Amino acid sequence: MKRIKAVYPGSFDPPTNGHLDLIERGSKIFDELVVAILRNPEKDPLFSLAERRQMLESMTAGFENVSIDTFHGLTVDYALRVEAQAILRGIRAISDYEYELQMALMNRKLQPGLETVFMMPAEKYSYLSSRLVREVAELGGAIDCLVPELVAQKLREKMDVAHKFNDGDRRESDLKAAERMPSERLTSERKRNTKPRKRKS
Ligand code: PNS
Repeated sequence: MKRIKAVYPGSFDPPTNGHLDLIERGSKIFDELVVAILRNPEKDPLFSLAERRQMLESMTAGFENVSIDTFHGLTVDYALRVEAQAILRGIRAISDYEYELQMALMNRKLQPGLETVFMMPAEKYSYLSSRLVREVAELGGAIDCLVPELVAQKLREKMDVAHKFNDGDRRESDLKAAERMPSERLTSERKRNTKPRKRKS
């Protein structure tokens, strides 16, 4: 009997409960599922490749047919290299559709033998994205229901380091000047000074 292997590519910066939900669903319909983290030197990720790999490995330790890998270059080339027949992608809402359709059709053009399979994560994760998780964490919001506990812990550690770094950066004179500021300006100045580094994406 033919065994079907699929690749689930993505940035996973960081992996969320939505990703985990999709991995679980994928692991039920494919014989083998490779979660492939894109190594993109042009992006400035919050988590290193090694950190993302380690988080995904821990999150998926209970799934026997799921493995974690990293890749660079085209997803279709990677999929061929590992002898996968399908690419798995999640669609949360209609807004994802256009981009995903474009990508699936381009991948088909590049490699007609490879199928893209779309799955929907549970409704409760339809609003969830790595970008929003990063933003909520950076601004001090609760992230516990959005990501697995080990990811939440790692995010908290990152934010602590970023805050300490920014606090240490402040000069004595800036602090003194801030003390003399009207309260409204002081608040925004404090926010600016304690904000973790800005990220694109
Ligand atoms: O989780 P993301 O960031 O939405 O994942 C996007 C990803 C990694 C699937 C996409 O950017 C990708 O496949 N990149 C690899 C380069 C590639 O194959 N580009 C052509 C896609 S049509």
